[in-house]
Amino acid sequence: MFPSDPLQAPLWTVLASLTHARRMLEVGCGHGYTAAVMASAGGPDCHVDTIEGDPHHAELAEQAFLQRGLSRRIRVLRGRGQSVLPKLKGRYDVVFLDGDWREYPSYIPHLRRLTRPGSIIVTANLNPLFGGWGSSLPGRQAIRSYLTRLVRDPQFRTYVVPGEWHSISVRV
Ligand SMILES: C[S@@+](CC[C@H](N)C(=O)[O-])C[C@H]1O[C@@H](n2cnc3c(N)ncnc32)[C@H](O)[C@@H]1O
Repeated sequence: MFPSDPLQAPLWTVLASLTHARRMLEVGCGHGYTAAVMASAGGPDCHVDTIEGDPHHAELAEQAFLQRGLSRRIRVLRGRGQSVLPKLKGRYDVVFLDGDWREYPSYIPHLRRLTRPGSIIVTANLNPLFGGWGSSLPGRQAIRSYLTRLVRDPQFRTYVVPGEWHSISVRV
C-alpha cells in the first residue's frame, strides 16, 4: 500500500480553494493519508467520502481518523469502487482516483453523475500505460480506454501530467 507522495499535499489545498470544496471523494483510501490531507485542506465544513476495498486498510484508516479527530468529516465506504460508486448520490467538488486502474473505465458514467461544472478529478496510477514503476503491470488497455474516453468527453477537459502520470480533469 503506497500513500501519495507528501509533496502532493499542497495540491489538495489548491483544489479545495479552487472549487470551494464542501464534498470530496476518493477511491482507494489505503490507510487514510490523502483523505486526511483532503479533509484538512477543505477546512471544518468539508466532508470526505473515501472508498476502500480491503477491510484491513479500511479499519486502519478509520482508527487513524478517530485518533486525529477527523471521523466526523471522513466516511470510509467499504467495497470496491465499481460496487460503491453506483450507490453514491449528490455532487462532489473534488474526486481522487487512486485504486485499481483496471476499473477506471467503468467509473466514467459515475464521474459525470457525481460532479458539477467546475469539479476537479485527479486520476493516479496511470504509470502502466506510460512507463516507470508500473510498466510491467497489467491493465494498460483499461488506462488507454479510460483516458481516451475522458479526453474525448465533451463534459471534461483533461491534462495528463508528464512524469507524474496523473491526469487532472475539470468538469465543464
Ligand atoms: C495506493 S493505495 C491508496 C493510497 C491513498 N489514496 C493515499 O494516498 O493515502 C491504494 C488503495 O486502494 C485500494 N484499492 C485498490 N483497488 C480498489 C478498488 N477498486 N476499490 C477500492 N479500493 C481499492 C487498495 O486496497 C489500497 O488500499
